[in-house]
Amino acid sequence: MEGRQLAVGFDPREEAPRSIGDVACQDVEALRAALAEAEPRAADRPDLVRVVRAPGRVNLIGEHTDYNDGFALPAAIDLELRIALVPSADRRVEIVLGESGERAGFDLDAIGPAQGRWIDYVAGTAWSLGQAGIPTRGFRGLLASTIPTSAGLSSSAAIELASAWALTDPPGGDVDAMTLARVCQRAENRYVGVNSGLMDQAAEALGRDGEAILLDFRTLEWRPVPLPLERCRIIVCDTGSPRRLSVSQYNARRAQCEAAVAVLAKGDRRIRALRDVTPDMLASIRGRLDEETFRRCAHVVREDERVLRTVAALEAGDLATVGRCLVESHESLRDQYEVSSPELDAMVEIALATPGVIGSRMTGAGFGGCTVALVERGAEARLRDAVLSEYPARTGLTPRVFAVEPVRGAGLLAAG
Ligand code: GLA
Repeated sequence: MEGRQLAVGFDPREEAPRSIGDVACQDVEALRAALAEAEPRAADRPDLVRVVRAPGRVNLIGEHTDYNDGFALPAAIDLELRIALVPSADRRVEIVLGESGERAGFDLDAIGPAQGRWIDYVAGTAWSLGQAGIPTRGFRGLLASTIPTSAGLSSSAAIELASAWALTDPPGGDVDAMTLARVCQRAENRYVGVNSGLMDQAAEALGRDGEAILLDFRTLEWRPVPLPLERCRIIVCDTGSPRRLSVSQYNARRAQCEAAVAVLAKGDRRIRALRDVTPDMLASIRGRLDEETFRRCAHVVREDERVLRTVAALEAGDLATVGRCLVESHESLRDQYEVSSPELDAMVEIALATPGVIGSRMTGAGFGGCTVALVERGAEARLRDAVLSEYPARTGLTPRVFAVEPVRGAGLLAAG
């Protein structure tokens, strides 16, 4: 979850159906040149400059399930963050933001506490790598990103993952992607101080071209789920509304789930998380929880089931069922879990009234940010036009529409 605004960027090519190749190929040389301008040692030794990348993510379904040991189906997307860097032997990390020229840094041997700035995500990752016994070294870097910030597409997890790749030799620290995701989650939980689950980092570490990732947050098992992209596309719509109260409300929902488990475990010691409650059990636990807590639990329990139903439907090529699951998920997040907003609801309503839209829902923590829509190929422009013409009139806000592609997870883009 993004705790605060991070203003970095390069040319977010929104509103146009985009292809996977552009971002990946286009800007490496520009990044190298910008780093050489900002950092003399990159100019002196261009052969040492490397570029690492981390994608944003969109969650197709499985919202507020990760911290309940449940299931989710996110995809890494081709809005991404990159760091061009030259390694250094002096234990110093210095980064300049490509967009604003702002600089920040820290010493790897004296990281110090979080400062409430974007550099915290880098420093926290360095701290967490150290805690995990993964060696780090300094670098001079330039950071640029096309991931909209504070929009629920996990730009903070992308900074963490790109940093993990930038801080280590060999790049990525020679550990598996799930281990790196957990290191980054720990940075966010323990250093930055946001109590988020593992979904964002896992999606951005494990992503695959053209596929979503089915994650089981109890066992940490995962597998790719191919998406029928010859038939449909993923469209992300940014409501442009700030994610009001998102951190406090997120923590409150987490606490409610934990309190419910504490009550339910007294009657049934097999219940260790809401993952252990099946839809069939809901009727029997109803009387043991207050009405609001019950609704929170009902969302989580049914959302887990919806994730598995969505995966089965995708594998059967049954997009109508996939669409129904997305819509049910949104209704449940709106009415039971109460993390939607009038803007998210308006965006989903506009999408669902557009011919060719298979399904749509809010994505991420909620309280603002983005929706995701699955759209039949050929209907993308119709959805974009509907959003651009109707949403401002309904909300007074300016939306942004992104056609995104599922891409591979964080890694090295260009070696030094
Ligand atoms: C945020 C958190 C994730 C997850 C989602 C809700 O994105 O960072 O861990 O809990 O909210 O599904």
